[in-house]
Amino acid sequence: MPMKIDIINGPNLNLTGTREPCVYGTRGIPQLLAGLQDKYPDVEFSFYQSNCEGELVTRIQESGFNTEGIILNAGAYTHTSIALRDAITAVEAPVVEVHISNVFAREEFRAKSMIAGVCIGSIAGFGLDSYVLAVEALRLRYAGKLPYGV
Ligand code: DQA
Repeated sequence: MPMKIDIINGPNLNLTGTREPCVYGTRGIPQLLAGLQDKYPDVEFSFYQSNCEGELVTRIQESGFNTEGIILNAGAYTHTSIALRDAITAVEAPVVEVHISNVFAREEFRAKSMIAGVCIGSIAGFGLDSYVLAVEALRLRYAGKLPYGV
């Protein structure tokens, strides 16, 4: 059985590639997904994007019991959403928090994450390669190779 990873993107991330290219770059999500599937042919990827908080909660609830890992870029909901935090806590799958930009080098409000404390780890600042690093983290976790029983 291939390892299943669900990639979940929150609000405005559908505009990646055209939105504020100096912050988020010029590559789009379709290119990212094609690149991931090429690089990791043994992983079964699924993808979901929504601009609505409740829909993101529903997706976490669904894939959180059917996949071996979730990569979550919650966009601006990262900084506000207790509902997303509770959804992550409620499911079995390990969740990696991802950001394209370095949220710690931007406005102060972006340095606070409501979800970081319930994710197995966070990756920020490496453009769309943040997602690649998150796949690496989930693969290590799946192989039981992360320290401290994470
Ligand atoms: C983001 C960072 C958030 O602060 C912002 O609201 C986003 C994108 C990122 O990927 O860098 O929408 O999550």
